[in-house]
Amino acid sequence: MLKLTLQHSIRTLDNQLLFPPDTLLTKETLDAVIYSHRAYPYPTYSLLLYGSVKGDCLNFLSTPPYDTIFLDKKQINDLLNLLETVHLYTPILESLDYFKQHDFYTYAHILMVFVLSTLLAKDLIPDYQECIQLSATGPTHDIGKICVPLNILKKTTPLTKSERGFIEHHATAGYVLLSYYYKDIQNLACEVALSHHERRDGSGYPRGILLKDPMVEIIAVSDIYDALIKPRPYRPTAYDNRAALEEITAMAEQNKIRWDVVKALIAHNRKSKPHYKEIRISAEKRGTPPSDNVYGIIAGEEKTDSKD
Ligand SMILES: [Fe+2]
Ligand SMILES: [Fe+2]
Repeated sequence: MLKLTLQHSIRTLDNQLLFPPDTLLTKETLDAVIYSHRAYPYPTYSLLLYGSVKGDCLNFLSTPPYDTIFLDKKQINDLLNLLETVHLYTPILESLDYFKQHDFYTYAHILMVFVLSTLLAKDLIPDYQECIQLSATGPTHDIGKICVPLNILKKTTPLTKSERGFIEHHATAGYVLLSYYYKDIQNLACEVALSHHERRDGSGYPRGILLKDPMVEIIAVSDIYDALIKPRPYRPTAYDNRAALEEITAMAEQNKIRWDVVKALIAHNRKSKPHYKEIRISAEKRGTPPSDNVYGIIAGEEKTDSKD
């Protein structure tokens, strides 16, 4: 049962206050806000065909290490045909415009989690409709970041504890925003936004639950991978691909994330493209993580082991 106290406010992009800080979020308080607004249903539009999304995706796919994962033109075309069927409400699509304008890293991240999670879902989820359903959750998993001040999202020095709390607020904020837009808290996109930073061993946030939903875990692994292989404000040097895959493998070894998703990701990173069930993992770690990483360092405190 959902019961969270909001540390910060939750507003839509057009500045409607859904919840002030210190609200106790329960099914009842959420329902009251969700059904208070009558603009539903919103118009929908294909995400891939929205603005410059398709061209931007193709551009991101042609840069390393995605160019190794997406080697085959037919594979890309098949995937694009599937992605084109994902339609989202216009207020959700407008969040992409916001990120593209104000936080380009998050814009690219959202699109790559959309593409990569769909690729992995095609391997791991046999049901086509479920695959489409999951595909629609990638581009909205971080929508709650519209409620986090840009100066905190882009901060290059260690965060304070309260700034870290603001970043973590994005998971709950995303859950509320998507519940508000979809008018359905059971929609998978809401669950993905809320739980994509949870881990199988309970070490994640915001609730510290034991993550065991295979759909959410596909997004979680795609999210971690894309974050590692890109330079971030708190880590100017990206992980190289080997070190990123080893970091993710180590998380599976610690039972934080799901093995079959990790194996599917590794299989796509191999030139021969084996089936993910054929993947054998070496215990040896040979990659070198970047040394200029301030992630997890709380200003004035010891380093923590949480991952974004
Ligand atoms: Fe996130
Ligand atoms: Fe993310």
